[in-house]
Amino acid sequence: MQVTIVRDKEQMGKRAAALIAEQMRAKPHFVLGLATGSTPLPLYHELIRMNQAGELDFSTTITFNLDEYVGLPPTHDQSYRRFMNVNLFDHININQAATHVPDGMAADPDAFCEAYERMIADVGGIDCQVLGIGSNGHIAFNEPGSSLASRTRVVKLTKSTIKDNSRFFARMEDVPTRAISMGIGTVLEAQRIVMLAYGANKADAVAAALEGPVTVSVPASALQMHPRVNWIIVEDAATKLKLEWDR
Ligand code: GLP
Repeated sequence: MQVTIVRDKEQMGKRAAALIAEQMRAKPHFVLGLATGSTPLPLYHELIRMNQAGELDFSTTITFNLDEYVGLPPTHDQSYRRFMNVNLFDHININQAATHVPDGMAADPDAFCEAYERMIADVGGIDCQVLGIGSNGHIAFNEPGSSLASRTRVVKLTKSTIKDNSRFFARMEDVPTRAISMGIGTVLEAQRIVMLAYGANKADAVAAALEGPVTVSVPASALQMHPRVNWIIVEDAATKLKLEWDR
């Protein structure tokens, strides 16, 4: 794993964008795995800037998002499909038909999950997966206890995640309790992984994932088993690290 600790989230976004752009330029029809949440926003700002400045082309890029809430239509304010449109897709020259976000309204969610895995396989797998980390160490919506071999499936969210996400909803009762999420096994099959983190509330999870044992209690610790992971961490999320990493 390569770990880079940066000063602020703008630096985090720029480093991550540079890394992804370099890979995208080397491979047409690049398959990019994307994440939601506040963490990847500085990365998306920079990717938009690069695209609008003519530095990076998305016309042949294919994307797959990690997860979506069950029960939220794509038009819902808090759906991850809408988040991606508003924060990235609507501002770059991507073919919207090549962007994939799990369908939270699928009539048969289990069949949808299988189909999502097949769609990823059909385009040759994910070239680079962007990830954030939950304050309890989750990746995508793989909560503590998720099998490290898990695949795309319907999952139940933990109380701590529902609480973390309640800031985006008017009432706690409005926060969905289930989601469709790529599995840890699915994520680990990406050729490369770019993991981002900022904020003091992530410091414990970052330390446990990077320096603790590989355990289902900290889903992000599974990244230790992947040969090509770049962690880009802002100082405020790196305060609990004990080993010497690049600064
Ligand atoms: C949600 C998403 C995760 C994300 C996490 C952290 O649970 N499913 O993919 O990493 O939130 O969110 P934030 O980046 O806002 O801290």
